[in-house]
Amino acid sequence: MQNQSEMLSVPQHIAIIMDGNGRWAKQRGLPRNAGHRQGAKVFETICDYCQKIGVKYVTAYAFSTENWKRPQNEVDAIMDLLRSYLKEAAKQVKRNVCLRFLGDRTPLAPDVQALIEQAERESAANTGITVCIALNYGGRAEIVHSARALAEKAAKGQLDPARIDEGMLAENLYSGGIPDPDLMIRPSGEKRLSNFLLWQLAYAEFVFLDVLWPDFTPADLDEAIRQFQLRNRRFGGI
Ligand code: FPP
Repeated sequence: MQNQSEMLSVPQHIAIIMDGNGRWAKQRGLPRNAGHRQGAKVFETICDYCQKIGVKYVTAYAFSTENWKRPQNEVDAIMDLLRSYLKEAAKQVKRNVCLRFLGDRTPLAPDVQALIEQAERESAANTGITVCIALNYGGRAEIVHSARALAEKAAKGQLDPARIDEGMLAENLYSGGIPDPDLMIRPSGEKRLSNFLLWQLAYAEFVFLDVLWPDFTPADLDEAIRQFQLRNRRFGGI
C-alpha cells in the first residue's frame, strides 16, 4: 500500500533547518558534537528517503554565518563532519545525486574548498536529486552578494539598472538555477527562520515539528509532507 506522501504529489523542493543537535546530546549526557554526528547521519538518511519518494531538491542548513561564534571545538567538529561527507561524495555521485553548496566559501579551510569544488564538478550532470548544503550561509549576506554582482555589472556599463528584476536578483543568489523551496521544515520546536533562504522561502509552506533533528525519521518527513499537502497554496491569489 502506498503511504500518504506517495499518493499525493510530493513537494519538488524541501528546505530543512537541522536543529536540536545540542539538546539531543545534552538529554543523553553526551558532548554536543555527538549530536552533530548523529545529525549528519540523519541528514544522509533523509536525503536518501527524499530521493526515493521523488523530491527533486533538498536544501539543508549545515552552518550559518553566525555559527562561527560557537566554541572552536564545535566549529571544528562540524567542519570535520562535512569533510568526511565530502570525502565520500563519490558515493553520492554514483547514486545520481547532484551536490551544491550555498554560502561564502572563502573563509573555509582550503582542503574543504577543494573538496566542495570537486564534489560539485563530479556531480554536476546528475539528475536524480539535487542536495544543497548551506555552509557559511546567511540569507541577508546572500542577497547582498547578488546585489553586489548586479551593481558591478551596472558600474561596468554591462547592465542597465532599470532592467534589474526579481529574476536577475534570484539568478545571482548562491541558489541560482534552483527553484524555490515549496516546504520548509524546522524540527526541535523553534519557530524562527534564522536567516535561512530569506528570498527563496517567500511563498514556501512552513512546518515546525517538535522532534529534535538527530531523532528525525522518514516518518517525520512524511508527517511534514502530509501537513504540506493539506495546505492551500494561493501565491497571493484567492
Ligand atoms: C543546529 O543545532 C545544528 C547545527 C548548527 C549544525 C548542523 C550540522 C550538522 C547536522 C552536520 C552537518 C553535516 C553534513 C554532512 C551536512 P544546534 O546545535 O543549534 O542545537 P541546539 O539548539 O539543540 O543547541
